[in-house]
Amino acid sequence: MDIPQHPSLPFLLVLSLLPAAAYSIGVNYGTLGDNLPPPSEVAHFLKTRTTIDSIRIFDVNTTIIKAFAGTGILVSVTVPNGDIPSLTDARNARRWIDANIKPFYPATKIHYICMGTEVLHWGPQPLIDSLVPAMQVLHAALVKEGFDEIKISTPHSLGILLQSVPPSSASFRPGWDVGTLQPMLKFLKETKSGFMVNPYTYFGWSPANANFCLFKPNAGLFDKATGLTYTNQFDQLMDAVHVSMKKLGYPDVEVVVAETGWPSAGDPANVHANPVNAAAYIGGLMKKVSSGDGTPLMPGRKFETYIFALFNENLKGPSLDEKNFGLFRPDFTQVYNVGIMHAPQAEASSPSPSPLAATTDAPSSSEGRGDDAPFFNKTKPFTSSPAPASSNTAAPAATDANVRASSLGTVSKNVIFASRSAAAIILAMTLLV
Ligand SMILES: *[C@@H]1O[C@H](CO)[C@@H](O)[C@H](O)[C@H]1NC(C)=O
Ligand SMILES: *[C@@H]1O[C@H](CO)[C@@H](O)[C@H](O)[C@H]1NC(C)=O
Repeated sequence: MDIPQHPSLPFLLVLSLLPAAAYSIGVNYGTLGDNLPPPSEVAHFLKTRTTIDSIRIFDVNTTIIKAFAGTGILVSVTVPNGDIPSLTDARNARRWIDANIKPFYPATKIHYICMGTEVLHWGPQPLIDSLVPAMQVLHAALVKEGFDEIKISTPHSLGILLQSVPPSSASFRPGWDVGTLQPMLKFLKETKSGFMVNPYTYFGWSPANANFCLFKPNAGLFDKATGLTYTNQFDQLMDAVHVSMKKLGYPDVEVVVAETGWPSAGDPANVHANPVNAAAYIGGLMKKVSSGDGTPLMPGRKFETYIFALFNENLKGPSLDEKNFGLFRPDFTQVYNVGIMHAPQAEASSPSPSPLAATTDAPSSSEGRGDDAPFFNKTKPFTSSPAPASSNTAAPAATDANVRASSLGTVSKNVIFASRSAAAIILAMTLLV
């Protein structure tokens, strides 16, 4: 925030009335825990106690969608990957809207429908081929219904990049670029929707570039071609995406950060998974995206951003890192403080505005228990994708290792999350060959 040199009294007054560091931001609300509070309590908590103004869920769970009715909080939902092919049929698309959107909209402010999760990364090819057609057909069905305000997009792992260092050299992987991403960008431009990416600097961390990954002071990464210096890896990744979009002729489509985060605990080997780093990253991210500064190549642009994740989720895994991406514990206590809470709102009739403390016996979520399951096919992460990057040897400390997979969609009805770290390792190997 720019503080005027001679702040006027009204300005100071306004400042003093605002909660400290009141950045509004989105979160990913994953539900792979058996100790999580019921959605109605979650909705109430977010609305009354936090600056979180939008959520994304990994399915179309109607209990959650209903719980956010009337809260004003934007809700983005996700079509399970396995349902995508059926939505290339107009009649199915209409039925899908009838079942999943119509009963809840606009009482719940449904914002985006994400067509699957990281589909390009995980394939298989027939699914990839159905992605853009399904987005087009579902959009047409939404328009017919008068729901034009609901946008459609699909989040990508940064595995869609051939390389990201330096940003000026970035491009999408051949095969995906013209075949899928160009028509997708055309669709997003026409429908004024954002291009969704999941950048994780956590997976690009090394002792040497820790500060670069954490928005802390560092020497930066100089991009000779543009003369620009990158002081953090988030900017570097975002500009790599921007350059890649530009190469396909779509530099001006908005970029949405659908997922990014940092775990507050992890396996012993991952010393960088700790609450201090998590607070540094999330705090830096929130400042970054709320400043409106944009990035070196996208100055002044704002990025709709969704932190991964709302809660620590005890059924995820196998790594401890996976279970500890949350901003909050299941009892609504903060894992670390980044100014995302505000004081209880004065609700005249309610002396105790948070009926939320006693949630230990909340009903357990049975959703997506399939956890590490079949869809995460370690043997073929790039089954249907183009050949991996040939070489990336020029990459300095800020490596492409963070070009990785994050949360996973699935071919089944439930969304499952595979191992973030295992996926990251595979991806890193692919990229560094
Ligand atoms: C929806 O989410 C709630 C809360 O996580 C869970 O209890 C419920 O089983 C889910 N419903 C479906 C159909 O997945
Ligand atoms: C995983 O890959 C193997 C080997 O190609 C294949 O036989 C199997 O069907 C795949 N499993 C899934 C769930 O995709």
